[in-house]
Amino acid sequence: MHKHLKDILITHEQIVEESKLLGARISEDYKDQDQSLILVALLKGSVPFLAELMKHISIDIEIDFMDVSSYGMGTESTRDIRILKDLERSVQGRSIIIVEDIVDTGRTLEAVLKILKNKGASTIDVVSLLDKPSRREVTVDVKYVGFEIPNEFVVGFGLDFAEKYRNLPYIGVMHEDYY
Ligand code: PRP
Repeated sequence: MHKHLKDILITHEQIVEESKLLGARISEDYKDQDQSLILVALLKGSVPFLAELMKHISIDIEIDFMDVSSYGMGTESTRDIRILKDLERSVQGRSIIIVEDIVDTGRTLEAVLKILKNKGASTIDVVSLLDKPSRREVTVDVKYVGFEIPNEFVVGFGLDFAEKYRNLPYIGVMHEDYY
C-alpha cells in the first residue's frame, strides 16, 4: 500500500471482477443495436476504468473522449462547466455510454448529459466505477455502478489528489496527514 494511504477500500481484483460483470451487462443490454455503441470517457480519471471495462464488452464499440473543466466561474446555482476537449466524431442518432470514475455531486454528469443530448445522441446511459451518493447535489441516473462508497477521500485507479496517485492499481483512502 502507498505510504500516503490509511486503507485500501477496493482491491485491483475486485475492480477487475466488477468490470467483468458491468461489461457483461452492457454487452447484453446493447446487443441488438444496429450501430456500434460509443463509450464516451471523461478525462482524465476514467482512463484506467475505461481500459479495464472495454476488455469485457463483447459487442462492437467505439471510444471517444471529452475533457471538461470543474465548474469554472459562477456561484453554486449558476456554475457550469467548460469543454476543454470535445468529441472527435458526431454522436447524432447514436447510443452512448458515458464512462466515469466517480459520481460525487453529480454536477459534471448533469452538464455532460445536457451537452450530449444537444449533440443529438439517441440514448445516453452512464457507467461509473464509484458512486458517492451521500455527496449528491443534483439528481442523475447512473445505470451501471461498480461500487457505492462512503464519503471518504479516495484516490487510485484514475482518481487523483493534486494529479498524483492515478497510477495506483486499487482504490485507497488518503491518510489525513497528506492532504
Ligand atoms: C472528477 C471525476 C468526475 C467528477 C465528479 O473529475 O472524474 O468527472 O470529478 O464530481 P462531481 O460529481 O462532483 O461533478 P475531475 O474534475 O477531478 O477531473 P479528473 O477526472 O481529470 O481528475
